[in-house]
Amino acid sequence: MPQPLLVRDDDPDFAGEFAAAVLAGLSQPQKVIPARFFYDRIGSELFEAITGLPEYYPTRTEIGILTQNAAAIAASIGPGRAVIEFGSGSSAKTPLLLRATAPAAYVPVDISAEFLQQSAGALAADFPGLPVLPVAADFTAPFRLPASITALPKLGFFPGSTLGNLAPDAAIDLLRGFAATLGEGSWLLIGLDNAPGEGKSQGSLEAAYDDAQGVTAAFNLNLLHRMNRELGGTINTADFAHRAVWNADLGRIEMHLVARRDTGFTVAGQPFSLTAGAYIHTENSHKWTLIEQRLMARASGWTPHSCWMDPAGLFAVHLWRRPVPAMAP
Ligand code: TRP
Repeated sequence: MPQPLLVRDDDPDFAGEFAAAVLAGLSQPQKVIPARFFYDRIGSELFEAITGLPEYYPTRTEIGILTQNAAAIAASIGPGRAVIEFGSGSSAKTPLLLRATAPAAYVPVDISAEFLQQSAGALAADFPGLPVLPVAADFTAPFRLPASITALPKLGFFPGSTLGNLAPDAAIDLLRGFAATLGEGSWLLIGLDNAPGEGKSQGSLEAAYDDAQGVTAAFNLNLLHRMNRELGGTINTADFAHRAVWNADLGRIEMHLVARRDTGFTVAGQPFSLTAGAYIHTENSHKWTLIEQRLMARASGWTPHSCWMDPAGLFAVHLWRRPVPAMAP
């Protein structure tokens, strides 16, 4: 299989960054670990397994929407664009989009370099003739696009409701960053999980983040294993349980690692303790209404163009445009 050249734009001292983030997060009154550290190799594989779970409706729902509307999407954006996918993983959605839109290049951006290299290789083999230019980077921080696509018109692809993992203010900052990275006249195709309502209960949301097979639990607990592996941690992982809970005030699912009993450990040589019932906050998944979703577009330099949903209205795929600026009155 041809191995595309991987451009590493990540922090050269990622281990140092992980240690610093963990020590800072565990020192807060409410302990927290930034969710981007989920995605080491094992975490990325567990995440792929989550996307196939019966309870986890977002992935298959979004694939259905993209399949149904591929022709309409392609007609709007036209051929010959560089497709930049933010947080590509090993996405099953990508081939759908690439087949429909006849792009000029594909740039997957992902924080897990090893995983990215492998999935980009597989994709390049399936699309002979398409330049595949993977970039290993944390896309929530500024990063450089490959120089060879500078002159091409751009389409950003941000599926999976990943935006919802950010609080609204950070989500708007990220969308503004995408607008700057992709440039004037670019498009953004973005998938967002809808807020609960008719036909979408709080219970079904919580089940999507706490499956019967325990895959999401393993994904969450992998953070603790990773701290033990990479930061010399002494965490007894059996002292922690996975919890997913709907926070109605903030409109989001929260994932926690709850102490089953009083527990203490060291990480990178520093001691920490939790009393029974205390927890480490590891992830948020915000669920916004369609009006909120569109308002976030407008607040960040994007103009809503089209929106497609599944018949039950669980999930929305939006096409937004960054207009070429005209003089304002
Ligand atoms: N963005 C998706 C969501 O919030 C996928 C995701 C991110 C996720 N982190 C997760 C799914 C943690 C399960 C658990 O649904």
